[in-house]
Amino acid sequence: MNVRRTNSLLILLVILSLVLLLAACKQEEGERLDDSVMLQDPHYIMGSGLYKRHCAGCHGDRGEGHTALGPQINTQEWREGITDEEIREIILAGRRVAGTSMDSFEGALSEDEIEAIIVYIRTFR
Ligand code: HEC
Repeated sequence: MNVRRTNSLLILLVILSLVLLLAACKQEEGERLDDSVMLQDPHYIMGSGLYKRHCAGCHGDRGEGHTALGPQINTQEWREGITDEEIREIILAGRRVAGTSMDSFEGALSEDEIEAIIVYIRTFR
């Protein structure tokens, strides 16, 4: 391999690394942007406060669950297995299965507040 060819190979390698580096930075920027957009969503902000007040005591701050009090609601399996409508119905009706005690929130929470809580719950990971 002659010197010229080695040089152009080196230059190519440098360019390639720069492109990869740029792509990585772009992606990170995008993720950060998504987060801040989410944090400014009025539903998310309202839902966060309401969830902490009404639900976190049993389901944990980020849905991790408190064994005897409330089930975990932050797994991918859980998220994919339940629709927003089903969550809404559970919040409205409450759950009283064999010694457990999730009260109905009908009348305590407005439609909009329930919607906000659902938006917030959906962000649990
Ligand atoms: C007093 C404790 C308690 C409080 C407060 C509470 N929950 Fe629950 N929640 C439970 C229990 C216990 C269950 C499970 C009952 C059962 O076995 O089906 C449950 C079930 C659920 C389920 C269904 C889980 C599933 O996979 O079937 C959802 C969704 C839920 N709660 C959301 C909420 C939200 C949102 C709030 C606040 C508005 C809330 N819960 C407040 C105790 C509570």
